[in-house]
Amino acid sequence: MDSTDQKKNIMEYETVALDDENSALVILDQTKLPGSTELISLHTGEEIWDAIYLLKVRGAPAIGVAAAFGIYLLAKGIETRDYDVFYREFCKKKDYLNSARPTAVNLSWALNRMEQVCVASQNLPVAEIKQKLRAEAIAMKEEDIRVCKAIGEYGLTLVKPGDGILTHCNAGQLATCRYGTATAPIYLGQERGYNFRVFADETRPLLQGARLTSYELHASGVDVTLICDNMSATVMRNGWVNAVFVGCDRVAANGDTANKIGTSVVATVAKRYNVPVYICAPTSTIDMSTATGADITIEQRPAHEVTDMWYEKPMAPAGVKVFNPAFDVTDHDLIAGIVTEYGIARAPYTESLKEIFAQKKVKTF
Ligand code: MRU
Repeated sequence: MDSTDQKKNIMEYETVALDDENSALVILDQTKLPGSTELISLHTGEEIWDAIYLLKVRGAPAIGVAAAFGIYLLAKGIETRDYDVFYREFCKKKDYLNSARPTAVNLSWALNRMEQVCVASQNLPVAEIKQKLRAEAIAMKEEDIRVCKAIGEYGLTLVKPGDGILTHCNAGQLATCRYGTATAPIYLGQERGYNFRVFADETRPLLQGARLTSYELHASGVDVTLICDNMSATVMRNGWVNAVFVGCDRVAANGDTANKIGTSVVATVAKRYNVPVYICAPTSTIDMSTATGADITIEQRPAHEVTDMWYEKPMAPAGVKVFNPAFDVTDHDLIAGIVTEYGIARAPYTESLKEIFAQKKVKTF
C-alpha cells in the first residue's frame, strides 16, 4: 500500500493508473473513502479480480480502464515467444478478469478491445504485441476523459443555471478517469457559473452516493445536499429538482438501462413529478447485442452488505433472508434521453441508438 498526502484534494487523485516500471495497476481504494485516501498497487490477476469484485475500483468506465491495464500487465508477464501459446494464456486471463462482475458491460468491452489488439497483430513478435496492448490501454484511459467531457457538454444543454439536479450512486470522477458521466454536466456547469443545486442519493447498501458522490462534489465546491434514498419523492414534490442525471452499467438496444439498484425507483418517482431522467452513457456502456433489459444479468451480492456493513453490530436478525441485487433496470419509457459522447438519443431508442453508433463509425474519440 502506498501512503498518500491526506491534504490533497480528492479530485487531484487518479482513479486508475498504470505503474509500468513496477508492473502494477494503481487504484484509489474506493472502499476506504471518504475516511482515508489510499492508493494501492495491484500485481496479480487475483488482486485485480478482488479489487473489481470488492468495488475497490468501481463504476463502469473505471472498471473498463482498470481491466485494460490489468490484462496488459498480465499479458506482459506471459513468458513465451510463440503467438499461439501467448494468445491461449491471454484468453484464460481475460476470461478470469471478465468473471469479476457481470453487469457493467465496460468490463467485457475493454477486455474484448484488448483481445482485438492481439488478434490484429498476431504476425508480430510477442514483445511487440505487448507494447501494442500497453498503448491501447493508455489510449482507452485518455479516450475516457474526452468521452466524459463530451457527455458533459451535451448534458449541459439540458439544464439551465440555478437548476436542481438529482443523482443516484456515483457516476462521478471516481467512477471514471475524469469528470464522471452523470457529474460531467455538473462539473462543466460549475466552471461556467451555473450554480446548480445537486441532491445526491446516499445509495444503499454500499453508500456510493454518500461516501463518493457527495464527497467529490463537496470537494469541488458544488452545492450538494445528501439525501437518503427514500427522500427523492419529497425533494421532487417540493419542486427542487429540474432533472435527474444518472450513469449506467449497461444500456440495451431498446434503451432499457441497468444502473445501481434504486435508479428505477428514482425514475418512477420522477415520472410522477414530471422531472426528466437522463442517462449519461458512453457508447462503451451501450450494448447493442443485448435486446432489452430482461436480457441483462443483474449481479447479486452477499447479505452482509445489507445487514452488517457500516454498522457496529448487525442491524438485522441472524439468518434473515436477504435480497441484494446490485443493479436494477429502468424501463426505456421512463427515460427522457440517453446522453452519449455523440449526442443525445431520444425515443424510440431502437432507432436513435443505431444512429449514435453510425456516427461512431465516422468519428472516433
Ligand atoms: O456497483 P458500482 O458502484 O460499480 O455501481 C456503479 C454504478 O451503478 C454507476 O452508476 C455506473 O457504473 C456508471 S459510472 C459512470
